[in-house]
Amino acid sequence: EGPKPLAGRRAIVTSGPTHEPIDPVRYIANRSSGRQGHAIAAALARLGADVTLVSGPVEIADPAGVRTIHVERAEEMLDGVLAALPADIAVMVAAVADWRVATAGGQKIKKKPGEAPPPLQLAENPDILKTIGHHAQRPKLVVGFAAETQEVEANAREKLKRKGADLIVANDVSPKTGIMGGSRNSVSIVSKDGVDAWPDLDKNEVAARLAALIAERLGP
Ligand code: C5P
Repeated sequence: EGPKPLAGRRAIVTSGPTHEPIDPVRYIANRSSGRQGHAIAAALARLGADVTLVSGPVEIADPAGVRTIHVERAEEMLDGVLAALPADIAVMVAAVADWRVATAGGQKIKKKPGEAPPPLQLAENPDILKTIGHHAQRPKLVVGFAAETQEVEANAREKLKRKGADLIVANDVSPKTGIMGGSRNSVSIVSKDGVDAWPDLDKNEVAARLAALIAERLGP
């Protein structure tokens, strides 16, 4: 079974996209599969952590040995994360929608002949990572992701500060990389100590290395 350096530690992981309703039958979403976040939750559990995974809508199975909470919207994801506090570790992997539809209502928007398309008003969603990174019950180790298509490292450094994170896992999600929704990932680990570029790896291997790094950073 291997060593359990995270025995007695509590971890919260977010994963997947969020779905932001437009009306009861339509929503705004993104291309996150949940593969990387789910793999991280499983890897932390394998090292002995007590893991709560707060997952948006995904097609993949709940990881073994992990408490999985299913949510749809960003606001529900934040509630799930806050309810799982206190924790020693937070790894915020979810591709949370930046905006929700402020005008979402209980009735399906009807298309009426001859009428202009309906306007959608957007409102900003809560930033879950930033909330956790500055929380009174902030976990000892807070890890975020930076999925960018340009200026990957510079954006990660800025995010480290603004979000109150200890580590940012930065990756290039340009369509040419096939990372978003794919099974492999090529990441750099950005901390106040510098940047560590990892080779192109299977998402499960990224998860195992990240869990090991988290255990090392937390110490006994
Ligand atoms: O600001 P940006 O979306 O690029 O930051 C990405 C990081 O912040 C990821 O760790 C993501 O899970 C987290 N995030 C969040 N809540 C949001 C937006 C991003 O937790 N509303």
